[in-house]
Amino acid sequence: MAVDWTPLIQAALGARQGAYAPYSKFLVGAALLSDDDDLYTGCNVENASYGLTVCAERVAFFRAVASGDRHFVALVVASDTSPPALPCGACRQVLRELAPDLPIRAVNASGDCVETTLSRLLPDSFGPDTLIASHTATV
Ligand code: THU
Repeated sequence: MAVDWTPLIQAALGARQGAYAPYSKFLVGAALLSDDDDLYTGCNVENASYGLTVCAERVAFFRAVASGDRHFVALVVASDTSPPALPCGACRQVLRELAPDLPIRAVNASGDCVETTLSRLLPDSFGPDTLIASHTATV
């Protein structure tokens, strides 16, 4: 399935405007596309108890999963750095659960774009297949 990245990039840049980031002032938007063409956006939501902050990518992913989607074909992350920021380690692990080889583009409003995949960002990862293998292993 060929991905039309343009609307995803627009959606991620738009979602970034909704970010609640009064502490870091680092606004992030995300747009996650499912294989049946549903688009989920997210923004980072910070908290006065800093550790409870949730990143834009996880908001988009959890919205998608809670809506019943399980298969994903593309993720765009929008920030205002140059080069654009890639997903943090925690988000990489969360995305890996259902989308181990997800194509990812990190963008900013100036048009910079970094293209990668989740398997490049999180090689040799731990995931559901490892647990399933352990359940079926003979000891
Ligand atoms: N942030 C994201 O939303 N996504 C990332 O992948 C990296 C970091 C947010 C979390 C926090 O609100 C702010 O950026 C600074 O870390």
